[in-house]
Amino acid sequence: MLVLGIETSCDETAAAIVDGTGTVHANIIASQVDEHRLYGGVVPEIAARSHLDHLDGIISQALTEAHLEFSDLDAVAVTGGPGLIGGVIVGVMTAKAIALAQNIPFIAVNHLEAHGLTVRLSHDVAFPYLLLLVSGGHCQLLIAEGIDTFHRLGTTIDDALGEAFDKTAKMLGLGYPGGPAVEQAAKSGDPARFTLPRPMKGRPGCDFSFSGLKTSIRQTVATLPPGKLETRDVNDLCASFQAAAGDVLVERCENAIKTFQSRFPIGDTLVVAGGVAANLYLRGRLEALSSQTGLNFVSPPIQLCTDNAAMVAWTGVEYFKQGRFDTLDFKPRPRWPLDPTAPSASEIIAGNRRK
Ligand code: KG4
Ligand code: ZN
Repeated sequence: MLVLGIETSCDETAAAIVDGTGTVHANIIASQVDEHRLYGGVVPEIAARSHLDHLDGIISQALTEAHLEFSDLDAVAVTGGPGLIGGVIVGVMTAKAIALAQNIPFIAVNHLEAHGLTVRLSHDVAFPYLLLLVSGGHCQLLIAEGIDTFHRLGTTIDDALGEAFDKTAKMLGLGYPGGPAVEQAAKSGDPARFTLPRPMKGRPGCDFSFSGLKTSIRQTVATLPPGKLETRDVNDLCASFQAAAGDVLVERCENAIKTFQSRFPIGDTLVVAGGVAANLYLRGRLEALSSQTGLNFVSPPIQLCTDNAAMVAWTGVEYFKQGRFDTLDFKPRPRWPLDPTAPSASEIIAGNRRK
């Protein structure tokens, strides 16, 4: 079985071909970072146009690299949301055209589920597992019980962790994308120099908040001498930020692990996925927590943490194996929660106020 995966929900135009055993035959990613750098973040209109310009060529490149033709494909899977809607539409329309022309099944994939299932492509991880999903748009703790079956234990009530990394980088003049730059600078910094808050730490439950951390970076920068920041100050701030983020993740995960282990005594794995899972410091912190709590720690290889189409193709494989396909009237979804029963961030905030 060969599935073509297409990813266009943010600023990566990507196509990949994965088979039923999890062999990746091609995994092509064209990053639009240079097109967005000038603006310090992703500009949705530029992203959509760029996907339109590049997607056909990227798909051809994937087929050529895999030594395959369109007629060899058994299905086409595409990110159907959530994401920047212009880009999602470009991917979905292209996938529908391929499905129609080749008369093969069309599978609309939830981008968040694709991040969450990537460990089943890279490793042998069985359901149920505890999933920390940390990306540019999301920060959630979920129990992955099966395909399309996620129980959310917590989410961020304001910024996602990747967003906090990106904004921190911007304030410190490290450019875009911020996560890798902050991680690099933090390597030579002193994590104890600046005292930053650990939002939500000590509260019951598994929700997150990162906007206070971001604000305190801004306030700390304001106390430093005006003008270009000293490299040592930047490095120390990055290290202090990362340490605060690590403390929060570990403490929130501790609560989630207790809930997971009481509900699923057979569950034995903590998975971290999404772009921020590429951060080796945070991986190290979560790995240590896993060994303390008797869980296995699994994270996809770095290149499969950030957006890619292999994860979309693999999710297509998982759905194909269950015979679950979508019809060609599927509508792209700017929002697509993994657990539709979980409260929204504003409902969580209102609930916290009532307590
Ligand atoms: O999953 P992803 O590629 O796209 C979304 O679905 O959002 O995640 C992108 C996010 C960005 O905020 C980026 O700064 C962050 O992941 N990121 C990192 C690292 N690499 C990417 N954050 C911290 N450390 C990294 N090494
Ligand atoms: Zn993503």
